[in-house]
Amino acid sequence: MKILVTGGTGYIGSHTVVELQQEGYEVVMIDNFENSQPFIVDHIQKITSVRPHVKQVDLRDKAALYDVFKTYSDIVAVVHFAAYKAVGESVAHPLKYYQNNIGGTTNLLEVMQAHRVHDMVFSSSCTVYGDVANPPVDESAPVVKANSPYGNTKKICEEILQDQTATANLRVVSLRYFNPVGAHDSALLGELPVGVPNNLVPFITQTAIGKRQKLTVFGDDYPTADGTCIRDYIHVVDLAKAHVAAISYLKKQAATNGYYVFNIGTGKGNSVMEVIRSFEKVSGTKLHYEIGPRRAGDVVQIYAVCNKAQHELGWKASRDLDNCMQTAWHWEQQLKNLNL
Ligand code: UD1
Repeated sequence: MKILVTGGTGYIGSHTVVELQQEGYEVVMIDNFENSQPFIVDHIQKITSVRPHVKQVDLRDKAALYDVFKTYSDIVAVVHFAAYKAVGESVAHPLKYYQNNIGGTTNLLEVMQAHRVHDMVFSSSCTVYGDVANPPVDESAPVVKANSPYGNTKKICEEILQDQTATANLRVVSLRYFNPVGAHDSALLGELPVGVPNNLVPFITQTAIGKRQKLTVFGDDYPTADGTCIRDYIHVVDLAKAHVAAISYLKKQAATNGYYVFNIGTGKGNSVMEVIRSFEKVSGTKLHYEIGPRRAGDVVQIYAVCNKAQHELGWKASRDLDNCMQTAWHWEQQLKNLNL
């Protein structure tokens, strides 16, 4: 079965291409390479011994997208990652985010419909739940007003997909990721932030390797056990496997249309200080960090109830925080060897 993966050289996309190929799927990946590197394709090939089909395409270019579906006329499903994801940048340049994330998704839906491709797995986020009063959160929690244009693009795309599945011959699984971290065991794939990382784990590994001077912990006066924020850190390989499970799930559905939502996390919350301690333990290094002020827009704590994914997708996270930090550290060390 041939699967189209948009954003296939990105962090989660590349790990998912590996898992799909290892399950025997044939992958066509498209990417505009704006925030990712072509060498990732070689690394996917090194891991799986299979080179995916690759096309440099921007989802805003509808004609190019039509060409992809014409060239690979036997695509049976789409896994859609391609999007911008920097929260701060989205506040400064909202239109850029709306045009790319929403425009890219509507183009994709139009072209899928024209080529009678009926199944999609969409990359959503726990950001749609906003600041949850009583975590853990399950899929019945209300979707609230987003606190950034980036978050709003995820919320709006979910709404578009839901509307479209109501009228068209279309089945969509939206996976609401919690905090993806870690890297492939081979240390050939991982997160490659452009510029200064916004996210905690790449900031930690870049500090430990000497690319950054020190980590700032954004606030230790939150109402949590150690005062730092709590998140549900999910290993990217576990997350990638959830996409493979979602494809199988869609193919098993009797209904010709439907919209399905799943939380993808571990079900466990960890504080920023617990993440730092785990990193120090597995790397055997002492991290240089200081406590700073809170970061605007951060929620105090959020972690997932993942029973639905376990029961319906047959998927469950298998890796713990130490494994996340260990693999992220190996990847950072490997990047140094590659001079990246
Ligand atoms: C962020 C986004 C979220 C997005 C996700 C994508 C915000 C408010 N949320 O999630 O919408 O889906 O990234 O990857 O930006 N931290 C520090 N020091 C740092 C960096 C982070 O203390 O230098 C803390 C944060 O305060 C937070 C935790 O680490 O408590 C995790 O932060 P981060 O990795 O940025 O993820 P989120 O903010 O949860």
